[in-house]
Order: sequence, then structure tokens, then C-alpha cells
Amino acid sequence: MLKKQVFGTTKEGENIYLVSLACGAYSAEILSLGGVLKSLKVPDRYGSVRDVVLGFDNPLDNLTSTTYFGQIVGRFANRIAKGRFSIDGVEYQMETNDGENSLHSGKSNFGWKNWHMEPFEWSGSPGVVLSLYSPDGDGGMPGSVNCTVTYLLRPSGELVIEYEATTTQKTLMNLTNHSYFNLGGAASGSVLKHEVLLNCDRYLPVDEHLIPTGEVRDVEGTPFDFTTKKPLGRDIEEVGGYDHCFVLAKHNSQLFEFAQVYDPTSGRTMRISTSLPAVQMYTGNFLDGKTIGKAGVAYPQHGGVCFETQYYPDSPNHPNFPSCLLKSTSVYKHTTKFSFGVK
Ligand code: GLA
Repeated sequence: MLKKQVFGTTKEGENIYLVSLACGAYSAEILSLGGVLKSLKVPDRYGSVRDVVLGFDNPLDNLTSTTYFGQIVGRFANRIAKGRFSIDGVEYQMETNDGENSLHSGKSNFGWKNWHMEPFEWSGSPGVVLSLYSPDGDGGMPGSVNCTVTYLLRPSGELVIEYEATTTQKTLMNLTNHSYFNLGGAASGSVLKHEVLLNCDRYLPVDEHLIPTGEVRDVEGTPFDFTTKKPLGRDIEEVGGYDHCFVLAKHNSQLFEFAQVYDPTSGRTMRISTSLPAVQMYTGNFLDGKTIGKAGVAYPQHGGVCFETQYYPDSPNHPNFPSCLLKSTSVYKHTTKFSFGVK
């Protein structure tokens, strides 16, 4: 099933659309504003269906919040030190919105923009293509960019997100989806009992502003070691909450399954694969019970966990990190797949 409806209006008077995808036991809603994954309903081990992503009822609430719930974040997801980088010897300055650094591209973040949406059906799977034009100089970045993001929901319980972008001039491109998952249901409290396995053998140590130091460190013997499944909360106190970039054990532009998540209470499972080299695992450390989400529920600290597949934070300033430079002659093309089940 596929439905597109007007769901509100932006301050500029543009329609905000909502596309509903339903397929087998699963359903998802996507907003044109921010390309936000507004809801994702998944059955538990007894067949009871609940929404497993955090978010707001009113799409405009996304614009006044720094939670980035469900957004497609770009052009550069995550942090760039001092908002500065250079390409071919030319220096660029982005907006700084996180102390003296840039986070999620400041005001030009794709997650604040109203995308064009075209629903479609493909071999029994409903989907939607979102598209956006970002002009040369947007957020201080060079090149006019055309970007499309496709959400596809499969009857087997897979949500596939495909990212594509082209540019007229060499630029940075690092797109992600900023969904907060709670496999017990968005309103069910903390995720610290979720068991997580990450096929990530290294992580990026950060400074006090969460900017990578440049070192790529082995997870072995640290609280960042999720190579054997453990509850998210087991070592969390030692790090004061995870908000770190984990490096996938394998990266060759093919889909690599790097995460398995299990909620022992509901029995829901989620596996994640991606063609991107890394993931920012963020345990909702800045949620504090004051953000009121869907159905009036307040989200507590660690009320959700994000797996933001991406290039490494601040990568333009670290030659030893994989490059997210996009040339005018190539196409940025990446896929991330979230697969749901029960145990
Ligand atoms: C990202 C960042 C976090 C935080 C959240 C939004 O995941 O890494 O530090 O800013 O977004 O609150």
C-alpha cells in the first residue's frame, strides 16, 4: 500500500507531504520535510506491532530541535572542526553551530529542507524517491548538487535507503539517516538493555568537542569493543555515552552487515548493512526527558540509539581517513539496509 497526503505547511507556505508505505506486517511513514523517517512499525515476537523510531507528531517541531530525529542529514553529516576545509588549495568556511565546530552542516542541513517526493511500487515493495537541489555555495560548500534518496520497504521487513548525488564542482558529500531506534517501541524508555554486536574492529577517539583526534584505534580491550554481543549499557558509564565513529571491519563499496541489535523484551531484532565505511553510534546522550515526542511521550536519556552510517567525521581534515570528495565526473551512490525480525 502506498499513500501520499498533504501533512502540513512550511513557514514559506509550501506543502509538507507524508508518504505511507505498508507491506506485509511492516509500515513506514516518510515526510518531505527533512526526508524524515517519521514512523516505522514492526511486529514483536508475539506479532504485536509498534513504532520503533523516535520522532515528533508535528513535522515543524523538527525545525526547532537539535535532535535530528529521522532526518536525511547532509551535505556533510557529523562534525567538521571549525567548519573549515579545503579542496585543491581553496579554503571553505561552513557555518559553525556546535561551539566553534560545524555539526550536520548547520542551517543548510538537508534535514531542514522540504524535499520533492515521488512514491512508487517495485516488485511488490512500496517506496518513495525524494529529490533535492542544493545550489553552489549552500552552507559554504562548492558545487551545485542534485541529490536523491530512495526509501524502499520490503515484505521481508527490510527498509532500504539509497543515496545518490551529483555535483557541478568538486565538493564534500556525506549523507546519512539520523533515526533513533528503540526496538521495544519509541515510547518504551531506555535502550541500554538492547544487545548490540558491531562488526567494527576500530573506532575514532575524540577530543572534548567530539572531534576525532586523527587516531584510528583498535576496539580490543576498550568499552568500544562490540565485536562480541553485549548490552549497550554494559560499559557505557566508562565513556559517558556513546557518540563515536566506529570503523567497519570491511569496506569495499559492497553492502557489509556490520550491526546486529536485539531487544530481549520484545524479541525484535535489527541487522544493518551498508556500503559506507563507518557508523556513528549515538546513544541519545543529549535526550533529557524534556523532548516531547510522538503521542506526547517524553524521551529520556538513552531513549533511542542511532546508527548513522557515514564517512568519518572531520574526514576532509584528516588525510588518513577515507575521502568523501565527490567529483563532477562521478556519482555518489551508497546504500544502507535495516532488516527487522524477531527471536
Ligand atoms: C549526532 C551527534 C551527536 C548529537 C546528535 C543530535 O549524532 O554526533 O553529538 O549532536 O547528532 O543531538
